[in-house]
Amino acid sequence: MSEHKVYKLSPVEVSEAWKDRAFIDNETYLKLYAESIEDPDTFWGREAQRIDWIKPFTRVKNTTFAYPDVSIKWFEDGTLNVSANCVDRHLATRGDQTAIIWEPDDPETPAQYITYRELHENVCRLANVLKANGVKRGDRVTIYLPMIPAAAYAMLACARIGAIHSIVFGGFSPDSLAGRVDDCKSAVIITADEGRRGGRSVPLKANADAAANKSGHVEKILVVRHTGGDVPFDPSRDVWLDEAMAAVDADCRPEEMNAEDPLFILYTSGSTGAPKGVVHCTGGYLVYASMTHQHVFDYHEGDVYWCTADVGWVTGHSYIVYGPLANGAISLMFEGVPNYPDASRFWQVVDKHNVNIFYTAPTAIRALMGAGEEYVKTTSRKSLRLLGSVGEPINPEAWEWYYHVIGEMRCPIVDTWWQTETGGILITPLPGATTLKPGSATRPFFGVQPALVDADGKTIEGEGAGNLVILDAWPSMMRTVYGDHKRFVDTYFSAYKGKYFTGDGCRRDADDFYWITGRVDDVINVSGHRMGTAEVESALVAHPKVSEAAAVGFPHDIKGQGIYCYVTLMSGEHEMDALKKELRDWVRNEIGPIAAPDHIQFAPGLPKTRSGKIMRRILRKIAEDEFGNLGDTSTLADPSVVDHLIENRQNRQ
Ligand code: PRX
Repeated sequence: MSEHKVYKLSPVEVSEAWKDRAFIDNETYLKLYAESIEDPDTFWGREAQRIDWIKPFTRVKNTTFAYPDVSIKWFEDGTLNVSANCVDRHLATRGDQTAIIWEPDDPETPAQYITYRELHENVCRLANVLKANGVKRGDRVTIYLPMIPAAAYAMLACARIGAIHSIVFGGFSPDSLAGRVDDCKSAVIITADEGRRGGRSVPLKANADAAANKSGHVEKILVVRHTGGDVPFDPSRDVWLDEAMAAVDADCRPEEMNAEDPLFILYTSGSTGAPKGVVHCTGGYLVYASMTHQHVFDYHEGDVYWCTADVGWVTGHSYIVYGPLANGAISLMFEGVPNYPDASRFWQVVDKHNVNIFYTAPTAIRALMGAGEEYVKTTSRKSLRLLGSVGEPINPEAWEWYYHVIGEMRCPIVDTWWQTETGGILITPLPGATTLKPGSATRPFFGVQPALVDADGKTIEGEGAGNLVILDAWPSMMRTVYGDHKRFVDTYFSAYKGKYFTGDGCRRDADDFYWITGRVDDVINVSGHRMGTAEVESALVAHPKVSEAAAVGFPHDIKGQGIYCYVTLMSGEHEMDALKKELRDWVRNEIGPIAAPDHIQFAPGLPKTRSGKIMRRILRKIAEDEFGNLGDTSTLADPSVVDHLIENRQNRQ
């Protein structure tokens, strides 16, 4: 498709139409940004009025990044309820307005339109079912659901009664689910009979059963009847949600929660060990999710907004459910995948529901770009006004395609950089205020102070590149790692004392715009999904034939990064292709399909230092096809290992 390309890679001025429409122009951005940094109490004290408080706060910001006494509190003496903010307070003015448009996997199945009033009833009923099944304020509830409205009901029902939800992405295996259930000691799982994605069914209930049998904690499994498939059901433990919801009261009083009470836990991968339970709290999170949703997407009353993420990831939490619903928005939830039934699906859904604002991931854009323009050109997309990108660096070519082919140069692109830990968008253009540069997340949002440091922690001023840190707290940042505060402090605040370390590399240009270059730690970003190399390695070494394994990322045209694994077998085992497939399936079963290695190379030895440490830098270079540039190998215990690895490297194409 490159030969059709006529785009020029230059900064893009936002059209005149946007200047009239947008809430914030450049001058306002600069003024408000300065205030947000110089006087955060005034700035956030005022912004927090966008949500309803039961008891108003008297203190705004009380935070310190000082190592090791990191402590983050916002609006700490205020009380509120998130579900009341996302649902009840809209009833008077928007009761009959659609809150959620649900577009099913199968285009022949009718879409659903759930009004705020219907949302209220469903959330209340589900909350009452949770209570009837013993869930109390502070209890953890695991949600393992497909992309159906019940996922939003379940989240908001937990928030309503003060329970802490932990959503586990439906693509994770029973083992991964059990690990997360056990870590937060959750006695209840909410799941569905089956999920549906790309025409295939996902055995969620069967997986939940397997996880419950493995875990010692599960007492109840609440099951949404979704596909109607025939699934195992144990009446002593399982509850059909439709029956239970019909039997309880349609109203449920929202609990009065403190601003700093946990709202949810979301597990995410890091460089080491098992996934961490990132804890987000009530007040600051909601203020920030609501504010960013309004300003980054320039959301105006009545706009139809579609974020294609899954609720199993943080993007789904903040920008399908909490941010949009706090703003009384119309939020589209899509059960399916971009290429089913074919590569036109996204744009057909845009036309069907007159979507104005569309937010997706670079991996989807690249995959659709590869499928060809003809899938786009058959659709109108006239309703689109703004496009967003999230999850990984967007390469300029994909950016240009998104801008020219999808948006027909009418729609600004907001390339939003953030993380599970940050709770909301931290670096992003604001449409109407920011000149766009393809591939740059541009400038910080209000209250966010990014900085670049070199390996020694020295701050880099002006134009330059380094590791991205944030200098001070923002309201929606994670508060702790569930059950392990020390891990929180060590992971994020020990590398550069007094600063939050993001794990990302970044460049700053002469205009002070930020260009995220990707992870600098042992986290791989596969199709915008975070995967710890340590997790893949520990899954591999759990296989009886594997003695040692090392996983690294390599550049992948569609996925951004793929997973390349070096595996040393137990002595006596034979290096056969069939075993590679077995190991790939093994990882898929242990963690989930997103972790399945793209390549496995058998390696009789791994490059190690004399003290036995694997030199991952070398493995990365080999996987990246950069053998000419292996750096210093003189500290290797056995340099010949490297020659063998290069000779036997996998053809990645
Ligand atoms: O490396 C960055 C990348 O995704 C990581 C965070 O992943 P996760 O916690 O799963 O959250 C993803 C959705 C918020 C970051 O450390 N990342 C996310 N957005 C961008 C990005 N990299 C470049 N540009 C982005 N816009």
